Amino acid sequence: MISVDHLWKVFGPRPERIPGSELAALPRAELHARTGCVAAVRDVSFEVAAGEVFVVMGLSGSGKSTLVRCLTRLIEPTAGDIAIGGDPVRALSPRRLRELRRHRVAMVFQHFGLLPHRRVLDNVAYGLEIQGTGRADRHRRAAEVLDLVGLAGHEQRYPDELSGGMQQRVGLARALAGDPEVLLFDEPFSALDPLIRRDMQAEVRRLHAEVGKTMLFITHDLAEALTLGDRIAVLRDGALVQVGTPEQLVGSPADDYVRDFVRDVPRADVLTLRWIARPADPAHTPARPSPPAHTPARPSPPAPPARETRARPRQHEAFETNAHAHPTANEQAHGSSDERTRITTAGDPLPATMLIRDAVPRILRAAGPVPIADGDHVIGVVGVEELLPVLAGRSAPPQAQPPAATDRVPA
Ligand SMILES: Nc1ncnc2c1ncn2[C@@H]1O[C@H](COP(=O)(O)OP(=O)(O)OP(=O)(O)O)[C@@H](O)[C@H]1O
Ligand SMILES: [Mg+2]
Repeated sequence: MISVDHLWKVFGPRPERIPGSELAALPRAELHARTGCVAAVRDVSFEVAAGEVFVVMGLSGSGKSTLVRCLTRLIEPTAGDIAIGGDPVRALSPRRLRELRRHRVAMVFQHFGLLPHRRVLDNVAYGLEIQGTGRADRHRRAAEVLDLVGLAGHEQRYPDELSGGMQQRVGLARALAGDPEVLLFDEPFSALDPLIRRDMQAEVRRLHAEVGKTMLFITHDLAEALTLGDRIAVLRDGALVQVGTPEQLVGSPADDYVRDFVRDVPRADVLTLRWIARPADPAHTPARPSPPAHTPARPSPPAPPARETRARPRQHEAFETNAHAHPTANEQAHGSSDERTRITTAGDPLPATMLIRDAVPRILRAAGPVPIADGDHVIGVVGVEELLPVLAGRSAPPQAQPPAATDRVPA
């Protein structure tokens, strides 16, 4: 849905000379000292699938806002390509670009930018008004989306009569009113206090489940990134350091910068059993063509997450996941061969998608390693030896360490 290819944004004198030159490799400070230019976005490439929530995270000044503004050319990129819904954004005529911004992509900013002299209903209807939608139609649509964000009954109030959280809901409703294909969020909740912020994150998750839009969400808050993102991209000094699922970032950070970001995340709350499963017994492991003995099981590559088929369990869905015991896996584990019988002495398989946190009681109670099932297949086992390092906050033992999990879009 969104494709970004070798994107650069350089501020300063004659910026176009930087990308592709030997200057491009200079660290940011040195580049600035030598040329007076700031490379706010450096050679960034990624793809966002339709319906995906893609989070961009990074410290202040890492280039997040510049990147998101480049997508609709609110900031004109210096080099590279952008496509939204297949349309090459940098090649669009002014008319097509306007159409893209008005109808197909909506932005939600930190500062809600509501019009103070207009009632909530007319704030939400504003975009439709600009598009020339008639009064009755735009009010009907505005009321509809206000209802969607939980503000029914507040249509006739003015923005300054609402709390910060409510104002941001109006901002959300305004973005949704035109039924855009893509929603871009630039730190929309960072001005809100923590409790309201959590509400708003839940709101975004709920809206995403209901309307299924493609979302690109910028934040410098790791907890927010982990709750919202199907995948997270980490920016440092304008460049992408790692793109991966929350699990990949936490379980296998690409470098010290990312490791620092995820240091305090309880690993058991993010990693699933798949991450620490070890082959039960390579000589006897069941049915499917199993990976070589020391290739650990690891999450499949980020699937474009259709609404009903999320690629990973969200933290609040843990119990749901829990309940989806895989009967086929059970059957398999209860199969007739001796090996399988031996494996099941530790009980029925647990799903590979279960969060480690939720599996702790079962594994601690089991007589031995518990089989882990991915759909129809038992992919390995998890026992106390696998559990303890995770609970102690240490990295997994070497044989369980997944391969480097940076899935950078190939250059
Ligand atoms: N118009 C501009 N002219 C010159 N430099 C700029 C301009 N806009 C941004 N920059 C620089 O580009 C870099 C990236 O800025 P940007 O605002 O994209 O960062 P950010 O990650 O959004 O930060 P924050 O978390 O503080 O919002 C910074 O070093 C900033 O100083
Ligand atoms: Mg910013």
